[in-house]
Amino acid sequence: MSVSTAAADKSVCAPLPVLGRDVTVPLVTGGEVAYAALDYAASAPALQRVWDDVAAYAPYYGSVHRGAGYLSQLSTDLFENARRTVAGFLDCRDGDQVVFTRSTTDSLNLLAAALPADCRVFVFETEHHASLLPWKNAQVTYLDAPRTPAEAVATLERALADREPHGPALVCVTGASNVTGELWPVRELAAAAHAHGARIVLDAAQLAPHHPVSVRDLDVDWVAFSGHKLYAPFGSGVLAGRADWLREAEPYLAGGGASRKVSRREDGGVDVEWHESAARHEAGSPNVIGAYAIASACKALTDAGFDSLVARERYLIEKVRAGLAEVPEVRVLSLFGDDAPRVGVISFVVDGWNSSHFAAALSAEYGIGVRDGLFCAHPLVRTLLGSDPQTQGECGAPEAAPGEKSLNAIRVSFGAGTPDEHVERFLAAVRELVRDGARWNYRTEDGRCVPDTSA
Ligand SMILES: Cc1ncc(COP(=O)(O)O)c(C=O)c1O
Repeated sequence: MSVSTAAADKSVCAPLPVLGRDVTVPLVTGGEVAYAALDYAASAPALQRVWDDVAAYAPYYGSVHRGAGYLSQLSTDLFENARRTVAGFLDCRDGDQVVFTRSTTDSLNLLAAALPADCRVFVFETEHHASLLPWKNAQVTYLDAPRTPAEAVATLERALADREPHGPALVCVTGASNVTGELWPVRELAAAAHAHGARIVLDAAQLAPHHPVSVRDLDVDWVAFSGHKLYAPFGSGVLAGRADWLREAEPYLAGGGASRKVSRREDGGVDVEWHESAARHEAGSPNVIGAYAIASACKALTDAGFDSLVARERYLIEKVRAGLAEVPEVRVLSLFGDDAPRVGVISFVVDGWNSSHFAAALSAEYGIGVRDGLFCAHPLVRTLLGSDPQTQGECGAPEAAPGEKSLNAIRVSFGAGTPDEHVERFLAAVRELVRDGARWNYRTEDGRCVPDTSA
């Protein structure tokens, strides 16, 4: 595979400025090195512009939907404008609602709590636990891992065709896998869902930071994402989409802000009129800074232009995949195969290495932050590794000791703020570790490998 240089390829933009570019970290072998943040899929660094916007607003911070004062009014406007910005970013339909939540997990739990009675839910076993688990009160059909996008659509079609024809149904699907980075055929899955009278929610936690998401064009009913993966780590997330199920549901949280009118009844009880707008599910004091930060990130990514962001990321993906392909001991995990379109999320295992040991050495000896484990997608990683589910540790807590066979994987992930140098350093470190081994001793502590500094 030949890889062009970013400088030679005019369509590849420079990385966007993010916080933490100048942070140095200590190495266990001595000295300090600039930190290479290659765990964007867990949490991406804040965009400098988001940080600047939040800092500029901070002195004007005030309560939302509450005070009569100037700053309260200003903050309320900012919060409601953030909703409109997000609706624009997602290309929502007229009448769609944008609810600010804490995260993707929170958004999907909110939707799960808003399902109509007797709703059936269809979800692939390959999903992140945030998409796999919230449907506790519904009858859930877990679909087997497909090996091609076409098989995913066919599997869903079959499952939907088998269900009782009437009654509500929801399909929940990821846009981009947090393990393989591979894109799922969302538009086709949405068409299949709708053809069978079901609705669909898109888990865009890994898609929205890397690709434009159009609710209208993909024809999904809802979309969920997290601010902290979209360069806006201030504790907010989004659930956007159809208003009807949300309007008809009990409020997600009961309390002020969600209620329009509360009165005592003759019999001593309380009557409540709940809002029908997004506020219905936003009880309590809203996280105005979180919402504002998300809106700022949406604007920053739009202004930077997804075409050039996607081109730059594709260039980095090729570079990393080509570099890893040169190391015979490395096996990259994939569901849909080498040619599948993907975002900058790549998981792999290294022959003869415990993944936790490898990731610990990347951090301690090279100052490179990746993730190891099962990535909160246990069934998918087990399918990809072909390992026995009984022997796995908890998410991020592998059971194998240093040097034992890998039961989990290593994930490198990057995005709009990643400079070439970080992925080059990562590839050089992988080559060196595989060739020469770790230079330090490691021990297992609480199920993780850590440098042994006791000597
Ligand atoms: C695909 C996917 N969905 C959902 C989530 C959950 O996101 P959060 O932890 O922000 O709720 C993640 C987090 O890694 C994810 O990768």
